[in-house]
Amino acid sequence: MKNFNGTILVAGATGRTGLWMVKSLQTHHIDYHLFVRSGAKAIELFGPEIVDKLTLGTLENPEEIKAAVSHAMAIICAVGGNVTDPASPPPSAIDRDGIIRLATIAKEEGVKRFILVSSLSVTKPEHPLNKYGQVLTMKLEAENEVRRLFSEAGFSYTILRPGGLTEGSPLQHALIFGTGDTITRGSIRRSNVAEVAVLSLFNKNAHNLTFEIIEGKESEQVSIEQLFTYIDND
Ligand SMILES: NC(=O)c1ccc[n+]([C@@H]2O[C@H](COP(=O)([O-])OP(=O)(O)OC[C@H]3O[C@@H](n4cnc5c(N)ncnc54)[C@H](OP(=O)(O)O)[C@@H]3O)[C@@H](O)[C@H]2O)c1
Repeated sequence: MKNFNGTILVAGATGRTGLWMVKSLQTHHIDYHLFVRSGAKAIELFGPEIVDKLTLGTLENPEEIKAAVSHAMAIICAVGGNVTDPASPPPSAIDRDGIIRLATIAKEEGVKRFILVSSLSVTKPEHPLNKYGQVLTMKLEAENEVRRLFSEAGFSYTILRPGGLTEGSPLQHALIFGTGDTITRGSIRRSNVAEVAVLSLFNKNAHNLTFEIIEGKESEQVSIEQLFTYIDND
């Protein structure tokens, strides 16, 4: 059974979290479209049948963004720059300006819902990760704009702030949610971040919410939806 009617655009679908977003959307039988930089990489990851669901482009290009968002009722964004590669564009260009460009054009084009993967500790300017082009501060600035744009009546956002990302299959650990950026350390599988992002599409308790998320102890999870009930809204 479908829990969400409408097409979800996944930005950053060929990334390590993005590909779990796609798997989760497939599991939940939700229609999706993918905004990717490389069609070849998308086909390698998802198979040739994906070809009709692709828009090629980058967050630097407004026309490509416009083409991609025209397919969407909601967006899940798992884009992140490569902060340790000096040849890559800096976090100010991708993690801040790129995300803000995507959110702005999406809103102009009538996308109703925006789900953003951000990071733990974005409100901590002294955090060691900020030595890489102020990446956490850039993510916070993008978050702020997503909140501003999508908190208007008729729109909504969800911002997930995961801890350090790891590999492995979903639903094998208890999940710990928090608000106010008070969780200082912790890790979480990308697959669990994806599952929470997709569930937040159709769970009203996740609307207009910003929250941190890490894994607790190993414990198989049948459902994690009830977790949204316990989060205080910001
Ligand atoms: N690593 C961690 O421990 C950690 C912790 C907390 C939060 N995060 C954040 O979580 C998110 C997902 O992380 P991840 O490890 O899954 O990332 P990843 O594997 O590096 O994937 C990043 C995705 O962003 C895409 N991308 C990069 N620049 C782009 C641009 N200019 N235009 C369009 N797409 C672009 C990449 O495209 P290609 O596939 O073409 O390369 C890729 O699909 C990121 O925002 C990251 O900063 C990471």
